[in-house]
Amino acid sequence: MHDIQHKLEQMRAQARLGGGEKRIAAQHSKGKLTARERLELLLDEGSFEEWDMFVEHRCADFGMADNKVPGDGVVTGYGMINGRLVFVFSQDFTVFGGALSEAHAEKICKVMDQAMKVGVPVIGLNDSGGARIQEGVASLGGYAEVFQRNVMASGVIPQISLIMGPCAGGAVYSPAMTDFIFMVKDSSYMFVTGPEVVKTVTHEEVTAEELGGATTHTSKSGVADLAFENDVEAILMLRRFYNYLPLNNKEKPPVRKSGDPAERMDESLDTLVPDNPNKPYDIKELILKVVDDGDFFEIQPDNAKNIVVGMARMDGQAVGIVANNPMVLAGCLDIKSSIKAARFVRFCDAFNIPVITFVDVPGFMPGTSQEYGGIIKHGAKLLYAYAECTVPKVTVITRKAYGGAYDVMSSKHLRGDVNFAWPNAEIAVMGAKGAVEIIFREDKNDPAKLAAREAEYKARFANPFVAGARGYIDDVIQPHETRKRICRSLAMLHDKKLENPWRKHGNIPL
Ligand code: HXC
Repeated sequence: MHDIQHKLEQMRAQARLGGGEKRIAAQHSKGKLTARERLELLLDEGSFEEWDMFVEHRCADFGMADNKVPGDGVVTGYGMINGRLVFVFSQDFTVFGGALSEAHAEKICKVMDQAMKVGVPVIGLNDSGGARIQEGVASLGGYAEVFQRNVMASGVIPQISLIMGPCAGGAVYSPAMTDFIFMVKDSSYMFVTGPEVVKTVTHEEVTAEELGGATTHTSKSGVADLAFENDVEAILMLRRFYNYLPLNNKEKPPVRKSGDPAERMDESLDTLVPDNPNKPYDIKELILKVVDDGDFFEIQPDNAKNIVVGMARMDGQAVGIVANNPMVLAGCLDIKSSIKAARFVRFCDAFNIPVITFVDVPGFMPGTSQEYGGIIKHGAKLLYAYAECTVPKVTVITRKAYGGAYDVMSSKHLRGDVNFAWPNAEIAVMGAKGAVEIIFREDKNDPAKLAAREAEYKARFANPFVAGARGYIDDVIQPHETRKRICRSLAMLHDKKLENPWRKHGNIPL
């Protein structure tokens, strides 16, 4: 071998060592994989093409001139996930704690720019102490360069963040602008200011885990979408998730046919909804029985459980599912559930993923905490998202569709393409009891009369046929044929074309 080739291999070996054996061992002792081990798991075997392995920082302050590590704390490049291209960056905590320097940021920007040119998603594995303190404003500038690219890529290519270590200060805003955030329990955290600053400013005592760990962000704040037990689980689930996504906004998501027949019936659905309209049932049972192979990739399962969102397939076609869940808060729409579902619908719309909506909603959540919290503005987010959405929209009302929530949940009036209802559906301004108490107030002291009025109102409105008579519902279907009817609708909608009027951008109520 020529000397120069030998030297190249030596340089590569040194770069691959990152911050050295000791720091790699320290990383492992925390239950974390290294940046390169993570990429090995994420990408198809042998598919990784690394870029910028020899990039070094240019900082000369604080003794940094003699302290350089090839690659400068981030491993970047592209590879394949299940045979489909992806650009990646993986921060190396063993090199200056994965802190972001100007050169480190340039490496990330380079893969983001290239991903935009070729129309391929970017996955970022974050494990970093934040801005490289020795570099000062050069590092802050580097972050802002990444932020700008996150925004330009939003809605053009899918962007996914895995948080696998610290992510603090302004650094959290790059993941926050990506489409999905996955976190690892007990070893990752995200916060704008850490526990020490919190203690000084607000006198609250809180651990890093409580303040910004995976459980906090997937169940309290809604900042992150999923929490996993360890690095391996997070990465393997991300590989699964990737199969649902198109590479960019001009493509349709990949079709993966399974052996599950599109016309499969499920008789058990005929008895899913209890006779008593106030009794809950699990909407996830319906989802699992309707989608291909009972395979549902739920997103944000621990946040705003009164609405369920996630990815699935119908006759091989990737779809986004949104469903009110009567098991929690009777399936009411509140602030958190509106925000959760609105963001999901907008993601699906941006990336050509049809939206299937299962409706069982008694209305918007009443109360001062909701009103003071801005339910008007936040509920409007979901309304806006559905109304703006141009991908195929198929809606099934399984029971209640009351009031404004009827309108919001992908109704015909918001350009729902196919709107079905089950025979027991109740589509009305409100429940019969509340309705008669208002319109027959004069009978309030006559319970027998009120009961008769209630029965009359129920008979008149608590059914799907009033909406059906106006064409707001395309058909009233048997519950057992739900899968078949959705699959046929999706096939019919395959080449749907609908465009919104030109504008710089809409003004979604933020
Ligand atoms: C340079 C850093 C660093 C940083 C860590 N290191 N953070 N070097 N800049 N920001 C180095 C450490 O000196 C150490 O080097 C190695 O990384 C590992 O750090 P440890 O502290 O030993 O690890 P650990 O105990 O696990 O603690 C990790 C940590 C802590 C919690 C992240 O290092 C920490 O608090 N770092 C500072 C975080 C911070 O304040 N960052 C700036 C935030 S402001 P050696 O050589 O000993 O291995 C910000 C603004 C972004 O990020 C704004 C964007 C707009």
